[in-house]
Amino acid sequence: MLRTVLVTGGAGYIGSHACLALIKAGYDPIILDNFSNSNAVAIQRLRALCQKDIPAIEGDIRDTNLCAKALRDYECDSVIHFAGLKAVGESQTKALEYYDVNLVGSHSLLRAMQDVGVNRIIFSSSATVYGVPKALPLKENHPLAPTNPYGQTKLAVERLLSDVAASEANLKYGILRYFNPVGADSSSRIGEDPRGVPSNLMPFIAQVAVGRREALMVFGNDYDTPDGTGVRDYIHVSDLADAHVKALEKLEDSAESFIVNLGTGKGYSVLDMIEAFASASGQSIPYNISNRRVGDVAVVYSDPSYAEKLLGWKAVRELDDMCRDHWAWQTANPRGYEK
Ligand code: NAD
Ligand code: WQD
Repeated sequence: MLRTVLVTGGAGYIGSHACLALIKAGYDPIILDNFSNSNAVAIQRLRALCQKDIPAIEGDIRDTNLCAKALRDYECDSVIHFAGLKAVGESQTKALEYYDVNLVGSHSLLRAMQDVGVNRIIFSSSATVYGVPKALPLKENHPLAPTNPYGQTKLAVERLLSDVAASEANLKYGILRYFNPVGADSSSRIGEDPRGVPSNLMPFIAQVAVGRREALMVFGNDYDTPDGTGVRDYIHVSDLADAHVKALEKLEDSAESFIVNLGTGKGYSVLDMIEAFASASGQSIPYNISNRRVGDVAVVYSDPSYAEKLLGWKAVRELDDMCRDHWAWQTANPRGYEK
């Protein structure tokens, strides 16, 4: 059994939830994170939650020797690679930085794996690789045409993995294309802690509900959708985390690498999200309608059927669960991991 997993970016939002799911399933995660977008407190909380001393290394994935040392010292037999930069808007003004961390960083990690002889990797990709949907729901074979540097780096890493696996018979990868992760672990001990003004919808709504921000800007109500606002496929982060355990199991069993969507297959509009969050929190969520956000599309949602077929996994948590758990995290930690 693959047991010891190097988790890059394991202190981050999705990585911390995946570590929790891995531990519950009997794996030993080893976290490597440079804390550029996370807080070491998340790891302390994880340790307390699991009653386990999770090893953590502060460092950068672009340091190949450090990655190799971590893989060797802890005798890792697989890697889950979350570490990276993820803000679409920022990627347009810091393209070089995004290629450096996301692409050069992944290359460095793969080099370290090759040096040490570790040949199983799960990679965090994104629905953003599809670009503007030509057909819905989005299936894995939809054409790939990202519209921003962030998405281009994700696609570049997908191609890097495919080419390296073709040249190294032993390397097997699982590429997971996430839709819109939201919510938090039901313990409220770990959750999303964005720095500065949140660019994603759910953390922004949560900060309005808790009184940290005055009102939400709804980016356009003139889309071709039932209420005019953008529709997305929101998935509970704990469902997403569970899928990583299934993906690791699959990688162990199967001789084949794979690419799979992780979403629910259901679309909710911005107004649906406001209403659901208001109901879960008992707070009113003031909002104003503004112009569309540049680069946004009307509707994005997944076809999640391949994930069920391949991994035996499907999302089980509903929108109410996502809002309830996000709200519980927000109220228990109004300033995130800060004291
Ligand atoms: P996050 O920012 O919370 O987590 C990323 C982690 O990587 C952070 O802890 C950060 O400190 C760390 N990191 C960044 N650069 C690093 C480096 N050079 N070396 C070591 N560690 C580094 O983000 P997240 O939401 O948990 O996303 C995890 C992964 O999933 C990312 O690759 C992201 O692109 C991808 N993804 C996220 C979403 C989303 O909406 N959250 C959707 C699709 C894909
Ligand atoms: C959702 C909806 C907005 C904020 C992004 C990335 C994607 C993936 C997930 C990483 C849209 C509307 C938002 C606000 C709003 N990340 N909105 N007011 O754009 O679907 O996806 O995060 O891989 O790659 O592009 O998510 O949460 O930003 O927006 O009206 O203040 O909410 O217009 O319709 P998005 P989001």
